[in-house]
Amino acid sequence: MPLTATGPLVTAAAAARRAVAAFNVITLEHAEAIIEGAEAARTPVILQISENAVAFHHGRPAPLARAAAEAAALASVPVALHLDHVRSAGLLHRAADCGFGSVMFDASHLPYEENVAATRAAADWAHRHGLWLEAELGEVGGKDGGGPLDAHAPGARTDPAEARAYVAATGVDALAVAVGSSHAMTRRTARLDHGLLVRLRGALDVPLVLHGSSGVPDAELRRAVAGGITKVNIGTALNIAMTGAVRAHLAADPAVVDPRRYLSAGRRAMAAAVTGLVAALEPVGEGGVSGGVRTGCPP
Ligand code: G3H
Ligand code: ZN
Repeated sequence: MPLTATGPLVTAAAAARRAVAAFNVITLEHAEAIIEGAEAARTPVILQISENAVAFHHGRPAPLARAAAEAAALASVPVALHLDHVRSAGLLHRAADCGFGSVMFDASHLPYEENVAATRAAADWAHRHGLWLEAELGEVGGKDGGGPLDAHAPGARTDPAEARAYVAATGVDALAVAVGSSHAMTRRTARLDHGLLVRLRGALDVPLVLHGSSGVPDAELRRAVAGGITKVNIGTALNIAMTGAVRAHLAADPAVVDPRRYLSAGRRAMAAAVTGLVAALEPVGEGGVSGGVRTGCPP
């Protein structure tokens, strides 16, 4: 089916009080695995390419984005393409040309007024070019190799009243909130502030996004979705799966030289991780817990 726009996918999930998973794409094998895993679960999915991944590809977003978009167009489930954690206005301005339907503009490291001004400009530009725009207020830690923020550090939690003013001032379509998760965790030990999430949900009328979800256990993820999270961003979990499988393959077959051998193992492991993670976002009794199938997708 044709590449899907992010906005309608997230809006539909919010209306159904569900969440859509957004997985980070670094290589073509990531995109293929994410689609394969989502097809197995018969669920829509978002492919997201971060500014850091673009930097890895020599600063050129188009080759990976176009490959991911082509893979999405061959999928049997709805797949959207999102540009993630963008700080550079120059990259934002290339998004529409590269096939992205949405962008997360990340000015969360800036003081509040500067965050508002930069994000307002980004949202205005995005909307003029038909893009859905997500932003972040309160900073989810663990970015770019930094450690998690202390729970009491300024910005480690999103303030509901400030978030309400921020959404009104910037015009963003969705908001990433800091409620206890942190990026790049390799163990699933995060505990979320569900009370804060309830207050944020009550204060805001845009979809809420959970970043750093690799470190969040299944039960916490499911509770966060029930509490109002609509988009769940996952990256590190796939890299753990891929690297573990590649490492095991290389150890078992030290003479291998054809990368298709070990990349196949890595891709299979990522696809299985995707299927497991999207099942964890389903309400109890409708998803992986009972083995049911999500509605709204073709078989
Ligand atoms: O925006 C991307 C996500 O927040 C990924 O975080 O790698 O910790 O799952 P993660
Ligand atoms: Zn993130």
